[in-house]
Amino acid sequence: MATFPEGFLIGGATADFQCEGGFDVGGRGRLTHDFVTAGSVDQPRQLTLRLADGRPARVGWHDPLPAGARVMIEPGTYYPSHQATDFYHHWREDIDLMADLGFTTYRFSVCWSRLFPTGEELTPNEAGLAFYDQVIDYLVARQIAPIITICHDELPNALAESVSGWASRHTIACYERYALTLIRRYRRRVHHWLTFNEINILGGYAALGTHAQDAQTRYQCVHHMFVASARVIAAARALDPQARFGTMFMMSEMYPATSRPEDVFAAYTTRREQCFFFADVMARGRYPRYAKAFLQAQGVTLRVAPGDLAVLAANPIDFVAFSYYRSGTVTHAAGLVNENPHLATTPWGWPIDPLGLRLCLNALYDRYQKPLIVIENGLGMVDTLAPDGTVHDDYRSDYMAAHLRAILAAVTEDGVPCFGYTMWAPIDLVSLSTGEMKKRYGVVYVAMDDRGQGSLRRVPKASYAWLKRTIATRGAEL
Ligand code: BG6
Repeated sequence: MATFPEGFLIGGATADFQCEGGFDVGGRGRLTHDFVTAGSVDQPRQLTLRLADGRPARVGWHDPLPAGARVMIEPGTYYPSHQATDFYHHWREDIDLMADLGFTTYRFSVCWSRLFPTGEELTPNEAGLAFYDQVIDYLVARQIAPIITICHDELPNALAESVSGWASRHTIACYERYALTLIRRYRRRVHHWLTFNEINILGGYAALGTHAQDAQTRYQCVHHMFVASARVIAAARALDPQARFGTMFMMSEMYPATSRPEDVFAAYTTRREQCFFFADVMARGRYPRYAKAFLQAQGVTLRVAPGDLAVLAANPIDFVAFSYYRSGTVTHAAGLVNENPHLATTPWGWPIDPLGLRLCLNALYDRYQKPLIVIENGLGMVDTLAPDGTVHDDYRSDYMAAHLRAILAAVTEDGVPCFGYTMWAPIDLVSLSTGEMKKRYGVVYVAMDDRGQGSLRRVPKASYAWLKRTIATRGAEL
């Protein structure tokens, strides 16, 4: 019977602003996410603004900001990042639950503005580091290997206001100071690092810190991130030769809607441009051959400084981390859509497709020949606490079982060197795309609603027992 190999990492993944809270404690500065309201599928999340003439306003969180506008916190408005699910005060209890599940790893992100409140400080905020010291020490004591995402779609808001975040090369130096602070401090306890989260789908003020949201701005920001990541990897290798660096890419299998050659070609190029372009640069260390035409077609002219291409070439990532939730379908006329008559979808319209994960694992390994880790995968559902005090979420166990079977097949039959799986997200947290709480992913329920109200009590769901058994048997019962 096939099982996951000895040493295969299995655990959970989270992001700071979706679970940590504690936004006003320990000297933490404002994060871009602190200005993003909650939304829903029909109502995009928004930024609250003070316009240049002093009037308040709101825009969608992925829209451009009017010239001279500044983000603000509006009294009486609910901002999910402020409390989130309060990992800041529940970390010990949450890690105990992860340890009881048998997790061998926990991937989480550090809040940049907790360490560097404005991003500009030359020395870090010790109170912020002290918070992560205790979390990391406790993880290690409970035999859970921490994997750190240095930057998960966020930055100190002051950097967004002063220099337009990643649009400016100045942010590269701020990021290096921040990242190397972490690596120096935790190098003996953390061996896998992710320089960025889902670098291929970043957009909006919260992730990039920019007022403009056009293609020119976006690809210039991403170029600065490529350089920042490579510069950090270069410096970190000298500090800790054992450390391994990756970046996280959002992957989905993309099928042609028909066998019509135009649809097949559209599926190929859409995937290349939305996923592989970014991994090509970071895993191979150079812009790919198709980059020039692809960027030109969008009117993008990158400003590349002397030395940028050399640092990229010398410091490719060691492993490829990716999230996988769903697949998509492409037609040459409509582009990428969710609809696929062969697949069921979640209530949020995401097609459920475990075989697509096996395809992705093979495609990524064929392309890069680097070790892989599935760093996010999970099912967002509305869960109900039953009268017997638990959540009967067999649908979640079924979803994870099918995806774990796909990984097992890729590892044992296809020979893909996938070294781990971290499910999103072990303890319920706030949804990134909608800011809702009712889109739950956890195997542990958190008593909190869409307005942040509730006791925050943690309650293991039925999937908790299933996952615990699956880990204990290394997948033998899958
Ligand atoms: C990934 C992100 O895109 O998907 C996470 O890295 C996010 O931050 C996850 O939470 C699931 O998306 P959502 O919108 O359902 O929370």
